[in-house]
Amino acid sequence: MINEYQSAEVFGALAQQAERLGLATTVVDQLREFEREERRHGVLCGGVVEALGGEARADVTAPRRLPEHPGSAPLEAFLRNVLSVSCLSETVAVALIGAERLEMPDGPLRERLSRIWADEVGHARFGWRVAQELLPLLDQAARTRLSLYLRVALRHLELHELAHLPLESRPPAAGAALGLCSGPDARVLLYAAIDEAILPQLEALGLSAHAAWATRFSADSLLAAASY
Ligand SMILES: [Fe+2]
Ligand SMILES: [Fe+2]
Repeated sequence: MINEYQSAEVFGALAQQAERLGLATTVVDQLREFEREERRHGVLCGGVVEALGGEARADVTAPRRLPEHPGSAPLEAFLRNVLSVSCLSETVAVALIGAERLEMPDGPLRERLSRIWADEVGHARFGWRVAQELLPLLDQAARTRLSLYLRVALRHLELHELAHLPLESRPPAAGAALGLCSGPDARVLLYAAIDEAILPQLEALGLSAHAAWATRFSADSLLAAASY
């Protein structure tokens, strides 16, 4: 519920960035729709909390910030965020939610998760499509910088996901029966999604994704992160 709410903020900020950049209204409108969808996901998740007897209340004091990348040209800055948010995070979300959905018995909970999953597929596809359309507008130097930025984005993705998939997280039998995944299993899926879906697709876009992944913890990559 909290994650979905924070994702709504991120897509809202991305829509503003696209608008400032003067991108087609279809792109801006899609991002605003994603913002609404993520908010709806939060409500759907909150409904599950309430249905299970909990209280769907949370303090979200620190909104998830979308980096401005002030040192980059506007289109390059936008593409950094599209790659990080849509191509990386949303693609991982599709894999993780898709796996939970497969484990889930038929019923209202599965229907609800299927609706969320379908939207997440749209969020990921948007990123891959927009990256394919906009990357050719950049010169070679900018594409090289984007490949270097991928070290930062991939490291952030990995650390963020691992923090949310603790190794000791093993749902009780009742939870497992509803499709809740174990932390260790989800981590295997995370790395498979990166290896088999994300890195090859980034390479197909002409970015040096494998090199970025291999050097995500290198000293100059950590130094570069300080300026983002
Ligand atoms: Fe979502
Ligand atoms: Fe999403």
